[in-house]
Amino acid sequence: MNPPKTSAAAPEAPERHPTGAAGTLNLRLRVWRQDGPGDAGRFETYEATGISPDASFLEMLDVLNERLTLEGREPIAFESDCREGICGTCGLMINGRAHGPQKGTATCQLHMRQFSDGDLITIEPWRAGAFEVIRDLAVDRTPLDRIIAAGGYISVNTGAAPDANLVPVPKEASDTAFDAAACIGCGACVAACPNSAAQLFTAAKVQHLNLLPQGQPERWGRTEAMVETMEQFFGSCTNHGECSEACPKEISIDFIAWTNRDYVRAKLKNRKLAGQR
Ligand code: SF4
Ligand code: FES
Repeated sequence: MNPPKTSAAAPEAPERHPTGAAGTLNLRLRVWRQDGPGDAGRFETYEATGISPDASFLEMLDVLNERLTLEGREPIAFESDCREGICGTCGLMINGRAHGPQKGTATCQLHMRQFSDGDLITIEPWRAGAFEVIRDLAVDRTPLDRIIAAGGYISVNTGAAPDANLVPVPKEASDTAFDAAACIGCGACVAACPNSAAQLFTAAKVQHLNLLPQGQPERWGRTEAMVETMEQFFGSCTNHGECSEACPKEISIDFIAWTNRDYVRAKLKNRKLAGQR
């Protein structure tokens, strides 16, 4: 069961605040606990005391989990892998904001110095119909993989690295494709969108290939397949822009406009190829 998107107010990023007397933070955490996809879920409150302001947000959860385990209680389930802003697994809603208060930062790179001694922090999983809660803060982001599987690749043989370097790529195109390729597939854009749309993710994954010469042979089929797979799982984009605001890689919303343009052209091109002008 997926609860509705959070109604918690999104506070402004706090200034660094003096820590407690011991130079550490004493925090109260309001954490979403859910035993599995069919469970209704509920908030539980925990004290996280003696937290270093230099700890990352996930390290703070590690400390809490260690204490819960020692007390014989069930630790809080959450996902992480690289812990350096690359893998995209660690997304959490923190005080109503995807990845928390620091712009352009994944949860694993958020540090506790962004919070103040005595803070109450609300921690929830991504809220979106397409992302089923597996347990507590961990959600199933398989629908994003389905979009990639529909066309997020190049199947022509581009040769070995020296061959790739022989293909001239305009500097502007390679820079823009690289910006799109920075998407880590975290799903924060979906969680932040009032419609739970996945346009920013899809657009980034479409455009990082469509902008390059190597991506041209499959450009139209890729665009059509990825956009239409996205529409099977996610809501529609109504240009709120929350996706780009929440994105830890600050992917530009322009990629959505370019993908919409490519989608229209793809439909016309593919109809033309089928003799259906
Ligand atoms: S576009 Fe940004 S927010 Fe969306 S999945 Fe990619 S990195 Fe995450
Ligand atoms: S744990 Fe990999 S991006 Fe956060």
